[in-house]
Amino acid sequence: MQQTSTIILGIESSCDDTAAAVIKNGKILANVVANQSVHEQYGGVVPELASRAHQQNIVPVVEAALKKANVTKEELSAIAFTNGPGLLGSLLVGSSFAKAFAMGLNIPIIEVNHMQGHVLAHFIEELDSVSSTKKPNFPFLCLTVSGGHTQIVKITDYFTFEVIGETIDDAAGEAFDKVSKMLELPYPGGPILDKNAQQGNPIYEFPHPKVDGLNFSFSGLKTSVLYFLKKEIAKNEKFREENINDICASVQKTIVDILIKNLKKAIKQTGIKEVAIAGGVSANSELRKQILNLQKMGCNTYIPKFEYCTDNAAMIAITGYYKYLEQDFATQQVVPNARMKL
Ligand code: KG4
Ligand code: ZN
Repeated sequence: MQQTSTIILGIESSCDDTAAAVIKNGKILANVVANQSVHEQYGGVVPELASRAHQQNIVPVVEAALKKANVTKEELSAIAFTNGPGLLGSLLVGSSFAKAFAMGLNIPIIEVNHMQGHVLAHFIEELDSVSSTKKPNFPFLCLTVSGGHTQIVKITDYFTFEVIGETIDDAAGEAFDKVSKMLELPYPGGPILDKNAQQGNPIYEFPHPKVDGLNFSFSGLKTSVLYFLKKEIAKNEKFREENINDICASVQKTIVDILIKNLKKAIKQTGIKEVAIAGGVSANSELRKQILNLQKMGCNTYIPKFEYCTDNAAMIAITGYYKYLEQDFATQQVVPNARMKL
């Protein structure tokens, strides 16, 4: 019998979230994520523990996604999985599972670049078109901001990506996380700093880095915040606790201002007025607000749904779907690439 639908199972395990999603003809049927709380006590992701937790979670997460989607494994057209960049041990769990499962089902496998997935999350359709978000038109610019990456990418079609600016040191998400740690906020830092910031005012100023072209740098910000705190705490030992919301708002505004400044430069340089954001930091309230302001420059702006900003498998499944349409399959010899480039 000829298959009429394309049903892709997506698997994501690049860092500390074990995720599975099912997409049918580009529409999302299920999107399941298991977060790993084991890292909280260490204030950051411990790679060995992440791999073990993926190993524990992967089967129940995939089962839950198939059940939620009301799809049997025999109905799957292909399995897409994150093959990099990320933590090698974590990637190995997802890729080995995908390879074995697909071999058992005698269906193709599709390797997906995690960062391409973040960008293509903009193309995920909901079952009812009313709740789907607008899709960007090609070519568009995407500010991809996560825990490991900060890039401005020019996207010409589903598969053609050109990085026109990137961080020369820390990623924006890393800056959020490292400053949060300095402020003694619990892990994961970014979302908690954001929450505090929404109750404060950006009254403190931190310097912007001097970097060429469209590149970014965030390592200096950490040092500025560290010296600032030392100086203020020497005058008032309760400074941090008493001013936590204003400090968070100030750090957040500085990070977002740095991001937006280069994005505006990129818009002017390329003349492209279709502008999107992607990656974990695109969940940030200040960034989401400031991106909307670009509409005053005549830009169309695109913000992913909250659940498609941080790591998820729906973005892997949608990328897999477009690669499936091109019959772009991987072989069983494929191995994860922790430093995979866009
Ligand atoms: O894309 P993602 O889930 O994982 C990676 O691929 O790295 O991004 C995680 C990053 C973390 O650094 C996290 O602190 C940051 O995204 N993040 C945020 C917010 N939500 C997540 N940063 C600032 N504000 C948020 N609301
Ligand atoms: Zn990510």
